[in-house]
Amino acid sequence: MKPKLLIVEDDENLRTQMKWALAGDYEVFMAEDRPGALEVLKSERPSAVVLDLGLPPAPDGVEEGFSCLSEILTYDALIKVIVVTGHGEKEHALQAVSQGAYDFFCKPVQIDELKIVLSRAFYLYELEREHRDLQHRLSGEAFEGMLGSSPQMQEMYEAIRKVATTDAPVLIVGENGTGKELVARAIHRQSTRKEYPFVPINCGAIPETLLESELFGHEKGAFTGAHIQRKGRVEAAQGGTLFLDEIGELTPSLQVKLLRFLQEHRIERVGGREEIFVDSRVIAATNQDLKEAMDEGRFREDLYYRVGVVVISLPLLREREGDIPLLANALLQRYAAEDKKKITGFTPQALRALESHNWPGNVRELENRVKRAVIMAEGAKVTPGNLELTSPYAKYEGLGLREAREVLEKDLIQQALARNKGNVTKAASELRISRPTLYELMEKLAIEKK
Ligand SMILES: Nc1ncnc2c1ncn2[C@@H]1O[C@H](COP(=O)(O)OP(=O)(O)OP(=O)(O)O)[C@@H](O)[C@H]1O
Ligand SMILES: [Mg+2]
Repeated sequence: MKPKLLIVEDDENLRTQMKWALAGDYEVFMAEDRPGALEVLKSERPSAVVLDLGLPPAPDGVEEGFSCLSEILTYDALIKVIVVTGHGEKEHALQAVSQGAYDFFCKPVQIDELKIVLSRAFYLYELEREHRDLQHRLSGEAFEGMLGSSPQMQEMYEAIRKVATTDAPVLIVGENGTGKELVARAIHRQSTRKEYPFVPINCGAIPETLLESELFGHEKGAFTGAHIQRKGRVEAAQGGTLFLDEIGELTPSLQVKLLRFLQEHRIERVGGREEIFVDSRVIAATNQDLKEAMDEGRFREDLYYRVGVVVISLPLLREREGDIPLLANALLQRYAAEDKKKITGFTPQALRALESHNWPGNVRELENRVKRAVIMAEGAKVTPGNLELTSPYAKYEGLGLREAREVLEKDLIQQALARNKGNVTKAASELRISRPTLYELMEKLAIEKK
């Protein structure tokens, strides 16, 4: 398989010329503008890009080329971009290199030189990619601090990469502990806003009366106790990302104010008269069904459509194929190293217990169980007991079917008797057997009527 190369060039002659010269060594893809380039980037994932800085709609400027460069590198920082500028525009080329381009050429391009630069670029790309993959494998990390290589999570990483390059508001939906905040941070870190603050605020954790000033700030004297002017979180996120956790908890009046901010990027501090322009991207999260909240009139429809321009739904942990052992092992290594304990893994029974558990608390629950297990473990391997996941079947292990059935019968009868305070008639009727049969069983299984 030949390595993939993308040529972004609006001059058709030059494009074809380069393609002919390079098609022997590379699988060459071509694009004539930025949107076309990004499309190929995502569908083909080339390792290197030859990028003309002067692209339509303004082929005489370099704006479009620079945006394209930044979008390519945001998508995958390892991609080797070789920029091409017009004759005598070396300063642009140098600027591109300072922004992450791998190398540059001024037109006219010498194909032989280009070939040499490209072969070095591809070589370096491979080295760096192998290194990155190895690092990820060692740490178990797949993407921006997130673990998991299931198809469900791969899709998630792809979705994060896609939305990160835009400024669209994102709504992250997921059950408790599925990683909503982690996803929000990943989007921020992958975006062009990454140098600016990521400001989280949990709308469900702050009393309603304080939330407005917490979000939008207040002027001095706006209310009793407002001794000084304070900026809110929205303003704190200027240039960056505002993360509104548990957005479903916002009161109707705050929903209106938030909507206004999303529409006009303007806010007013509590007690303030002037409008303040704020450029921050909004990412919201919820574990509620906002559609249902909308139907019941608890959540504004217009706000829902503003906030949820893009919706990312996090899968439940138990639905992520193959991720449970992967996550459990990575977390085990992490906590064992932190506690300086020599634990090498899980017993086979513990692994089975991890796989069959339902995980209502998702990754957070897994973290907690593994953390506790590392503290409790006495041997080199973590047991189901350390994880507090003793299987309901553990007591049947090593028993034949007949004995197992007796153990189960005994349990059920004892429970029924206990529930009915020792009343045999009631217990028998609950168990849907006759009273004499129950007496018989009690004798056989040595059950005392308490
Ligand atoms: N894919 C993952 N890889 C590694 N750690 C994860 C992953 N997903 C979640 N976590 C960890 O699990 C914990 C819960 O994640 P997070 O706080 O992002 O979830 P959440 O959906 O916001 O939860 P909640 O609904 O309880 O607020 C965090 O400690 C986070 O680091
Ligand atoms: Mg959360």
